[in-house]
Amino acid sequence: MDRWSRARSWFPVTDGMAYLNHAGVAPISTRVEEALGRYAAEATRRGALHYARFYDAEVERVRTRVALLLGAHADEIAFVKNTTEGLGIVACGLDWKRGDQVVVCDLEYPSNVYPWWHLRSKGVETMMLRTRDGHLPLERLEEALRLPRTRLLSISSVEFGSGARNDLEAIGRLCRERGVLFCVDAIQSLGCFPIDVERCGIDFLSADGHKWLLSVEGCGLFYCARRALGLLTPRVVGWRSVAENWNFDEYHFQLQPGAGRFEEGTTNTPGIFGLGAAIDLLLEVGVEDIGERVLALTDRLVRGLLERNARVLSPRSDGRASGIVSFTLPDEPVEESTRRLVERGVFVVARRGGVRASPHFYNSEEEIDRLLGAL
Ligand SMILES: Cc1ncc(COP(=O)(O)O)c(C=O)c1O
Repeated sequence: MDRWSRARSWFPVTDGMAYLNHAGVAPISTRVEEALGRYAAEATRRGALHYARFYDAEVERVRTRVALLLGAHADEIAFVKNTTEGLGIVACGLDWKRGDQVVVCDLEYPSNVYPWWHLRSKGVETMMLRTRDGHLPLERLEEALRLPRTRLLSISSVEFGSGARNDLEAIGRLCRERGVLFCVDAIQSLGCFPIDVERCGIDFLSADGHKWLLSVEGCGLFYCARRALGLLTPRVVGWRSVAENWNFDEYHFQLQPGAGRFEEGTTNTPGIFGLGAAIDLLLEVGVEDIGERVLALTDRLVRGLLERNARVLSPRSDGRASGIVSFTLPDEPVEESTRRLVERGVFVVARRGGVRASPHFYNSEEEIDRLLGAL
């Protein structure tokens, strides 16, 4: 059995259909299923008897695994309930001044637009950059970063509709040169392509586990660089936000020294068990190799689509290719093409004017061909 077939055996979802919707909600592996089962068995049979040894130990182990995945330190990681919460910690935590400007682009998912629009009442303006052919040209971004009032850029690592991959290293460099804070919504690439927060100069990053990380919904991660921690005032604090969070006899209101201060109360511990198993699997297979495999699968898909006269909306050149391929068929509404594919056991969705297919590394060439055949 080759390594991809072995990895595939962890995903029983492959029995029933070609699951090509990892940009939506991904299925979990049997490894994550086992981890959730381990949590459930302990909670059922022993409750909180071994809280420190069983629950806390795993939460802290997973924190170090998240840090490894991102090239970060464990004290720069907080668990959050979703991507939006992480972005909200930044939006609500910075000390804004009237006239400050946030830069986003018009390909962003609403989670990366509304938290910034919500700051209007504080006099903060959001500049929404116009994109071209499904991606944001770097020159446009550079201009916006040069404006004196620009305080923060918030962008997705991969755009959810078009699938354009943003060059985070180049963007990070521009932000550093201009003294602009750099915030990344990483949910559409984390687990599929490597990311190094240090090298990219990212200040804040957020992602939930239920897409390319192949974990469950409702448990995500938030990264805050050590250098940026002091810029954020936690909006909500509670027993867990403080340094001596297991001292219930006295009150010591001193925040945790790291990003743990953003975890105000009890964590989503079962979610963290799942996330840990999912990240273990990804690191074991190797995220670098996963990225290459996903690009090989999506290249095959794009070739087949072009042969069938489909229009591919996703940018595929200049390093912009990702795990998302969006397309339309001549003379057929997107909803109709999507419905036809789903009926034939190929799970894709309609997004932003295209049929969106998003295979992960365990999908097979045969599944890609099944999609093409079903057209
Ligand atoms: C780019 C992007 N950000 C965020 C989300 C979802 O955010 P959350 O994890 O808060 O549900 C999605 C979901 O499709 C997305 O594509």
